[in-house]
Formats: sequence, C-alpha cells, structure tokens
Amino acid sequence: MQVSRKVAIVTGGSRGIGHGVVKQLGQDGYALAVLDINALADYQANFDALDKAGVEWLYVQGSITSAADRESFLAKTLEKFGRVDVLVNNAGVAPKTRQDVLDMTEESFDFVVGTNLKGTMFMTQIVARQMLKQDIRGKKRGVIVNITSSSVNVSSPNRAEYCMSKAGLAILTQVLADRLAAERVLVYEIRPGVIETDMTRVVHKKYSDLIEAGAFPIARWGQPEDIGLAVSAFCDDKFIYTTGNHVDVDGGFHIKRL
Ligand SMILES: NC(=O)c1ccc[n+]([C@@H]2O[C@H](COP(=O)([O-])OP(=O)(O)OC[C@H]3O[C@@H](n4cnc5c(N)ncnc54)[C@H](O)[C@@H]3O)[C@@H](O)[C@H]2O)c1
Repeated sequence: MQVSRKVAIVTGGSRGIGHGVVKQLGQDGYALAVLDINALADYQANFDALDKAGVEWLYVQGSITSAADRESFLAKTLEKFGRVDVLVNNAGVAPKTRQDVLDMTEESFDFVVGTNLKGTMFMTQIVARQMLKQDIRGKKRGVIVNITSSSVNVSSPNRAEYCMSKAGLAILTQVLADRLAAERVLVYEIRPGVIETDMTRVVHKKYSDLIEAGAFPIARWGQPEDIGLAVSAFCDDKFIYTTGNHVDVDGGFHIKRL
C-alpha cells in the first residue's frame, strides 16, 4: 500500500469528459482510479498514453448503479493507493431515445435517474465516508466535484428525465457541501454546455448549427479538456473558502440576453 501521492477517483473515465478529467488530474500529479462500465480493452490507447506520461492508474470495469461494484471498486482503490483525495462524479447517461415528456417511459426515467442521480448519490456516500476516516492533508480533507449540465436549468422537453437527474445533483451538491464543510471536504458542481463527445454525437449537427447561429458567446464546441481544467482548479487550493458552488463551463451559454 502506498500513501505518498494524491489520489483521484473519476467515474466514467474511460472516454469523453471523464477521460479529459483523468488526463488533467494525471498531469497535476494525481494517481487515478477509474470505475466505468466499458471494457478497458476498448479504450486501452487512452491508458497507454497515461503510462507514457508517467501517470499511475487503476481501472475497474463496473457500474455506479451497483452497490457491489461500488464497494469492490473502492476496496481495490484503497488496496492500490491507500486513500482518496478527490472524487469526480462524471459517469452519466442520456435517455436511449429522446421522447416528449408526455411520452416518457418509466423505464427511461429509471435508467437515467437511476444512473445519474441515484448511482452518483450512493457512490458519493461510500467515498465521503472513506474521506472522513482520512487525515486532513494540507488545507482540506477532500474534494468532490459533480459533473452536471446546463440542463440543470435549461428545459429540454424531449429529455426531461436527464434534466431532472442533473437538477437533483445540483441540490445534492449543496446538501453535501453543507454536511461536509466542517469536515473540510469541499463540494462543487460543474455544468458543461455542449461538449464534443460520444454522448453528443447523435446531435452533432443540431449543436453545430446552434454554435454557428451564435447561441454560444464563445462560438465553438467545448472539449473534454475544458472540463478537466475546471475540475483541476477546484481541486487546487485556490477555492478553500468556497463550497457548494457551481461553475458553468459552457462558452457563456448560461448568459441571458435580448
Ligand atoms: N457531452 C456533453 O455535451 C455534456 C454536457 C453536459 C453534461 N455532460 C455530462 O458529462 C458526463 C460525461 O459525459 P460525456 O459527454 O463524456 O459522455 P460519454 O458517454 O462519452 O461518457 C460517459 C462515460 O460514463 C460511463 N458510464 C455510463 N454509465 C455508467 C455507469 N452506470 N457506471 C460507470 N460508468 C458509466 C460510460 O461508459 C462513459 O465512459 C455525463 O455525466 C454527462 O451527462 C455531458
């Protein structure tokens, strides 16, 4: 068991935004533990690149929706790295098919809310309990970052279950920040706008057209690296008198204008 370096868990870190966060935190000197439903073999190149960069990592295939998977992942993380300093709750899903809120199925609600909100809640619970067992290192005991979405407060009537799941995570961020502040565990939320990943592939043309039409003040697709940088800022000691806050990483999309 090694305990000298900082350790970050990133859920859903095989690809996309999660992997952007993994790369950035690796560059910042963290050892990385990833829980993802994907097989490592499908994303091996991403992890070979971490090896080349001298980043230590652990990959466990499993789901945030399974109590057994969450527990065994945390046990493996502690066995390999000894502690957890940062939890980035990134794993998330969109509805398999976009359907009007009046046609939404219970199955789709359970899939999306069960993954994004319930899975994240109970993942956080076991990791936060672990953080509380650990010493304070430097200025804080731990950091938790929830990756939500502009959908926290932007309506999409054809994927209401997604909006609800992310809005739930927004209040969870504040509840956890409140509960854990005295323990010096700081909790933040990042709301990405449109980020170029597998998740947005099906709506690539629609969002490219919106960008072209000027819907985003910074007129380009967001990249996973943009989210990695924001997570990195929260994990640094720059925000130690700040908890329960969110930041929009969306090219200014949240700005209301006439
Ligand atoms: N791409 C965007 O424009 C965008 C915008 C706002 C928010 N987000 C959020 O960012 C996060 C990452 O999305 P992305 O765009 O990189 O999508 P993605 O589909 O490329 O990545 C999601 C990752 O989560 C993993 N995952 C899914 N369900 C899981 C589960 N039950 N347990 C463990 N891992 C699981 C997937 O295997 C995948 O690696 C999601 O929470 C998403 O809602 C994305």
